[in-house]
Amino acid sequence: MSPIYASPLVDEGYDISDYTAIHPRYGTMEDFNRLLEEAHSRNIRVMIDLVLNHTSVLHPWFTEARSSTTHARRDWYIWHPGRKGRKPNNWLTNFGRSAWKRDEATGEYYYHSFFPEQPDLNWRNPEVKKAMFNMVKYWLAKGVDGFRLDVANMLFKEEGLTNNPAWALVSDRNVYNRNQPEVYELLRAFRRLLDRYPGRVSIGEIYVPPPGNSRLAASFMGNGQDMLHMAFDFTLIFTRWSACAFYQALSKYYRVLPGGGWPCFVFSNHDLGRAVNHYLFPIDKEKKAKLLATLLLTLRGTPFIYYGDEIGMCNRHIPRSRIRDRYGRLLYPFYTGRDKARTPMQWDNTSHAGFSPASPWLPVHRNYRQCNVASQQVQEGSVFTHYRKLLQLRRELPVLQQGTIRFLYKRQAGYLLYERTTDEKCCWIALNFSPFVRKVTGLPENEAMVVYHSSDNRRMCGRATFPLRLFPYEAVVIGKERTDRK
Ligand code: GLC
Repeated sequence: MSPIYASPLVDEGYDISDYTAIHPRYGTMEDFNRLLEEAHSRNIRVMIDLVLNHTSVLHPWFTEARSSTTHARRDWYIWHPGRKGRKPNNWLTNFGRSAWKRDEATGEYYYHSFFPEQPDLNWRNPEVKKAMFNMVKYWLAKGVDGFRLDVANMLFKEEGLTNNPAWALVSDRNVYNRNQPEVYELLRAFRRLLDRYPGRVSIGEIYVPPPGNSRLAASFMGNGQDMLHMAFDFTLIFTRWSACAFYQALSKYYRVLPGGGWPCFVFSNHDLGRAVNHYLFPIDKEKKAKLLATLLLTLRGTPFIYYGDEIGMCNRHIPRSRIRDRYGRLLYPFYTGRDKARTPMQWDNTSHAGFSPASPWLPVHRNYRQCNVASQQVQEGSVFTHYRKLLQLRRELPVLQQGTIRFLYKRQAGYLLYERTTDEKCCWIALNFSPFVRKVTGLPENEAMVVYHSSDNRRMCGRATFPLRLFPYEAVVIGKERTDRK
């Protein structure tokens, strides 16, 4: 769940004014307790967003901190008197403006990685850590199953406030205001806390501008056992649609994972938009959505499915007057913001796509009459049916969950081929990224069964026929018992 805490909603809830209260817009704490209980009774676990880097300006801690330079809470945030009447340094926010705001009350500047209404906490102050860890314990005691750590790599900034180098303006410019060594120690302490509560999980958001940085993301998993359980790396979202590019990104990803580290994958999210829009869509949108679903659900690692991706929902153009995301309002028309992937879930073809009888705060995508859960549920060959098939396959074949992974890639082949293996079983996954029919070579030819294919009505599951031909954008999973095992 994205943040549901008390908040003035300047950044749709990523500006929290009370970490242990629910925003009335989302209900009450009783509602949350009930949600947790009902989810658990259905064997569904609930993970919540944890925004540790900053609070809202309206958080009482900040109200106190800004009141005077000598207040005990002053040092809970990052303050500076400025250098010769100018800002303390050249650090920028995520949308490219100065990250320092002069506060009238005392004339000093405070640091904010995002909007000025989101002042960054000073994690060097042990009191901050204590208060935040207590808040984490509150949710753990309530029974939440894990956390997504918002901007986990940004919690510390270099103490000397050194200017970021000028060259960095053309690459990831944030050399001194994120990825500082102290974060690793903090994440270790966080993991020790989490490990006191069995079965809880942490996943960190490690955003790095395109092309992403798998090595950096992996580093926050420590030795694989002592920091984050998983780290979101967005490299695949920034990868172009080609078997070769995916092969390179994926093999690098697995190579840099720490020994005991567990992979995870995500193709869409609330900031970066939807998978179907990243990769040359709308041409052959559904086929590509099925290929991506196959990839996501057959790679070794935890798949994260963003709501609506299971029916192939697309980004929606939001007219200027209806843009809510402040980034979009500030940067329009150069950037229209993040609302495009935050539109209501499309349940059925009734008004507002069945999301709510009230008019939702963002418009529903125009395609909701065809693209909705109710109609895809009964439509053989829909994206939704394929997600279900793949999820079931993953449940039935432990090799897809625990098996090792090895890429069998041939340059220029246009398809991606990999092998998942356990002692008992082998699976091969072949994904045709190209718009042409491709012949797959290098598969074992005896006793192999097609257990899944993405193009309905063209072929049946059953004994595989060789050479295997893949239709454009087709995805096929082939399974086989192992005969070579001792
Ligand atoms: C993360 C969130 C994003 C938010 C930002 C500040 O990147 O995903 O939506 O604006 O953190 O909290």
